Amino acid sequence: MVTMDRTEDAQVSSVVQETLQIHGTSREELIPVLSEINDKLGHVPTSAMVDVSKAMRLPIGEVYSVASFYKMLRIQPRGKNLVLFCESAPCHVMGGKAMYEKLVAELGIQPGETSADGMWTLVATSCIGVCSDGPVIVINDNIHGNFSLDELPGILTKYK
Ligand code: FES
Repeated sequence: MVTMDRTEDAQVSSVVQETLQIHGTSREELIPVLSEINDKLGHVPTSAMVDVSKAMRLPIGEVYSVASFYKMLRIQPRGKNLVLFCESAPCHVMGGKAMYEKLVAELGIQPGETSADGMWTLVATSCIGVCSDGPVIVINDNIHGNFSLDELPGILTKYK
């Protein structure tokens, strides 16, 4: 379980208040508010959802549903390294399935999850436009393509 200390809590609170001042507290602003909090903090912490639900007078369940529904929003902190795996057809036919299975085994997490040590977050994504290099993964902003299954552990090690 991830816990926040008081400094983090104060930071979250201040970001929420600042964002609500910009957008206001009407129901129509829920997604823009959550989106901006996500951009500023890297995810939408539970305490931010509680603050937003109070300010907008919305049930916490509704705020949580919205925050957890949209792929652009994260309700868990992101790991140190964000690994995007391309799951579109062109990469798939270039060996993407085997790469996916190796990646999941190496990281010990499924898409959408963050490793317990906070090192990795794995996200499955659609085509990122470099299909000729498939199968492709992106770690942080670095594209890795045209590599073999045996090379994957070495690539991951560089980011530890
Ligand atoms: S299908 Fe994977 S990069 Fe285009």
